[in-house]
Amino acid sequence: MQKIEKREKVLVCGGAGYIGSHTVLALERAGFEAVIVDDLSNSKASVLDRLQQIAGRSFKFYRLDLCKPRETLELFRQESPAAVIHFAGYKAVGESVEKPLMYYRNNLDSTLSLLEAMQKAGCRRFVFSSSATVYGGVTRMPLHEDDPTSCTSPYGWTKVMIEQILRDLCVADKAFSAVLLRYFNPIGADPSGLIGEDPQGIPNNLMPYITQVAVGKLDKLHVFGKDYPTPDGTGVRDYIHVSDLAEGHVAALDFSRRSVGCRAFNLGTGQGVSVLELVHAFEKASGQKIPLQIEGRRAGDIAECYADPSLAEEVLGWKACRDLEEMCRDSWNWQKNNPGGFPES
Ligand code: UD1
Repeated sequence: MQKIEKREKVLVCGGAGYIGSHTVLALERAGFEAVIVDDLSNSKASVLDRLQQIAGRSFKFYRLDLCKPRETLELFRQESPAAVIHFAGYKAVGESVEKPLMYYRNNLDSTLSLLEAMQKAGCRRFVFSSSATVYGGVTRMPLHEDDPTSCTSPYGWTKVMIEQILRDLCVADKAFSAVLLRYFNPIGADPSGLIGEDPQGIPNNLMPYITQVAVGKLDKLHVFGKDYPTPDGTGVRDYIHVSDLAEGHVAALDFSRRSVGCRAFNLGTGQGVSVLELVHAFEKASGQKIPLQIEGRRAGDIAECYADPSLAEEVLGWKACRDLEEMCRDSWNWQKNNPGGFPES
């Protein structure tokens, strides 16, 4: 990636989380100055020490709830960032079904307060952490950015709604640049093994469940469904290395410097991988056997979900380059070095 002359300051909201922390590293490596904002509601302060160990320098950090407009505006007055990447938000699908108001309140309020502060401070470059979940109703694969958006959970609807808010904002403010990054399934970790995914409680997602079985924290993997119309009957997803995803944000920031308006991009590899294929790739990369049991389908799951990632390559000049073996190796490296996740600090 091209180095820039003056270090451009970027506010990384939710920068202590899984994707946020990897993006902080990618920004540092590309010559940006990342300022981390996080309320630590779903992350630990020790992430910051780990980032310092990897980067060889400390990062400025604000512990802040973005739903508070006054404090958020004050932050912009102090830092005057050139751009914002917004990862901060609740993200558990099941929990969002049980507590929809909490999800709408938090995810929408924080985004609105952030955008209002940006407007007052004259900051007009925004990269948003969206998700493939916005393609809710689409069954024809691969998924393309022009496909219609819809959703099946309050969490997903917050993504659809925020995308719409950004589209509307770009109509009203012709100088505003919003980049919507629709993530597929991030796995893997920085190869240092110092940062990685650290879910609270029993993981909902496949890879952290597998790594916790491998490390002995969980007995066996429950495979949700073996009767899907896929080659081996298990669900197919587009797994992407979190470092590739992080580099996609750097490309999006570069793009936002030379563009205005609202654009959406898929960040995936374009390769569909089944649950059993992922398990076998993990076993090979880690040397660990993963006991498993086939169960019924999980409510709300779909058979297949994978990206057409060609638009990001064409327009952003970004393409995922790490393969499944590397994803599995790095996920395992993180988990085995940190069986209990990040230390409490
Ligand atoms: C899930 C979310 C999605 C979110 C994404 C973020 C749901 C319904 N969807 O997607 O909104 O954007 O995570 O990463 O939660 N599987 C098992 N056993 C497990 C866990 C998963 O067999 O213990 C299977 C699933 O049935 C699926 C595949 O593994 O076929 C991937 O599941 P998961 O990691 O939860 O991701 P998504 O379902 O794609």
